[in-house]
Amino acid sequence: MTHNLGKFEAFSRADLAVTPTPIEAMPNLARKLGGPNLFVKRDDLTGLALGGNKARQLEFYLGEAVSQGADVLLITGAVQSNFVRSAAAAAAKLRMDCHVQLEDRVPDTDGTHQVSGNVLLNKLLGATIHSYPDGEDEAGADRNLGKIANDLKAQGKKPYVIHLSPGYPPLGALGYVVAAREILDQLETTGTTIDEIVVASGSTATHAGLLFGLRATGSQIPVMGICVRRRADQQAPRVLARCEEISALLDTENCVSAKDVVVDDVAYPPGYGQLNKNTIEAIKLAASQEGLILDPVYTGKVMAGLIHRIQAGAYPKTANILFLHTGGQPALFAYEPKLTEALVAD
Ligand SMILES: Cc1ncc(COP(=O)(O)O)c(C=O)c1O
Repeated sequence: MTHNLGKFEAFSRADLAVTPTPIEAMPNLARKLGGPNLFVKRDDLTGLALGGNKARQLEFYLGEAVSQGADVLLITGAVQSNFVRSAAAAAAKLRMDCHVQLEDRVPDTDGTHQVSGNVLLNKLLGATIHSYPDGEDEAGADRNLGKIANDLKAQGKKPYVIHLSPGYPPLGALGYVVAAREILDQLETTGTTIDEIVVASGSTATHAGLLFGLRATGSQIPVMGICVRRRADQQAPRVLARCEEISALLDTENCVSAKDVVVDDVAYPPGYGQLNKNTIEAIKLAASQEGLILDPVYTGKVMAGLIHRIQAGAYPKTANILFLHTGGQPALFAYEPKLTEALVAD
């Protein structure tokens, strides 16, 4: 394999994720859908406080935080953010305080959404919780987090801030550069060929990191990003820009070009964190066919997107498709009333 990862080895990492995560076959689901062979990369099993993709991303942020001598971690995200919960866990594990800012990003939420799932876990993990009213105002949310960090500094603390908005060095994406190499090693060991990897495309750290890691290692496996946060026309340029930022961070060539960035927003409506019928069906199908638990905000939508592609004839029956399970299951409990309603209506 060629490696074009520049300064990659120079970055500090905290040991937070249990890896390699397994790749499993999903024969029942494949048979039920009458489509290609399906596999799942179990990044829901990364270990840290119920797992998920953010454990890999946090290894690089916390590596930097520790090397700077930080003693308090700050992060912003949606009320049911998995990133926030994983960061609170990482801070606890590394003996740092944690301040989390929860943004109202999802309309029509109920009381359960505000207290259950990841919110409950944040409290268990000992995080101090702040609120921010506008979940679409990324720059404003980061500015407000900066103010909280300044207050902490004035109290003699050493804060480390994980920013949400684009334009900051994409340290977290390096976690998926690592994952790309891990997947390629696993495929080589088992002699498996994969024709497409299907992944959630949200902040883009996972999608862009994976794509960058594959291309930089000489792999041309197509990566299909399923939009969970914004429409495809807005998401594609963000993924490409993130790949540019990764190459700048690593001080190496960007092997990703515009044609590598493929996104599909069929499962996105009506918006971030809002359920639709196909997502509920996809969650039920994965559970009933494979005993695989997906989440309502990310992986359920990714599975809905994958099922749509299969039904639209996007793959030959002999193709091998890898679904990246990025975790997020705690949010299931925050969506309990809506999910129960959908299950009862069946
Ligand atoms: C469970 C889960 N899957 C996927 C994603 C999307 O990953 P990214 O933000 O790296 O695009 C997130 C982001 O919060 C997540 O929590």
